[in-house]
Amino acid sequence: MSSEAHYNRVAERPPVQCTGLRAAHRQAKRTLIQCAAVLACGDIQACRILDLACGRGGDLPKCIGCASYTGVDTAEAALVELHRRAAEMNITVATHAGDAAQVPVVACDLAMCNFALHYFCDTRAHCQALLDKVVQCVVPGGVFCGTYERRPHHPKWGEAYHAVVGDCVDAIEWKVPWHDIVNDAHKRGLALVHHVPLAVLHDGSDTHIWAFIMRRRREQ
Ligand SMILES: C[S@@+](CC[C@H](N)C(=O)[O-])C[C@H]1O[C@@H](n2cnc3c(N)ncnc32)[C@H](O)[C@@H]1O
Repeated sequence: MSSEAHYNRVAERPPVQCTGLRAAHRQAKRTLIQCAAVLACGDIQACRILDLACGRGGDLPKCIGCASYTGVDTAEAALVELHRRAAEMNITVATHAGDAAQVPVVACDLAMCNFALHYFCDTRAHCQALLDKVVQCVVPGGVFCGTYERRPHHPKWGEAYHAVVGDCVDAIEWKVPWHDIVNDAHKRGLALVHHVPLAVLHDGSDTHIWAFIMRRRREQ
């Protein structure tokens, strides 16, 4: 199933399985977002956040109090659910439907791509377009953070697999050639400043998932 079809379905029928793992990942992402916000702005209240591949707004509660929140996703039903949840939490949000690599430029202090980098690894050009978009959006000194699944061997671009995780994921994904991404990011002025297993941020997280924070260099 395409990721768009799967995540549109998930928006209407939220997952009920893997509750322990999902709770651990929520906590780990909370810590990741807080650290990234402190690095970018000193605290989250000053931070304009751009959530690339935001889904149904799973990370909205972690952004409460931020200066602004913009979400981008290909799954339109997920964005409808995000708006419903934002209204419930009394948070003002903006959203764009479409590929996060093609979103109109939105100036931000913190861009994030959680549990979705694999969807941009079908080709190196797609992932480079995402990095270009990040650099166009994140102000100098701002940050790009996210998560990805680390592989024991360096994967090639375009290595697809069918991911199934309980009722949470059932979609074609692509292995993440992390070293190439770090090099491509570096060439664009994004320096990797934190890179840790998600389980370091919260016990019980999937040990194959890593978290990262890159910082956009200030102009010389
Ligand atoms: C596992 S969910 C993660 C959602 C959210 N970031 C979180 O951590 O809760 C992956 C999301 O990536 C979205 N996605 C996949 N490919 C995308 C693309 N090219 N542009 C924008 N969103 C995409 C899917 O629709 C889905 O909502």
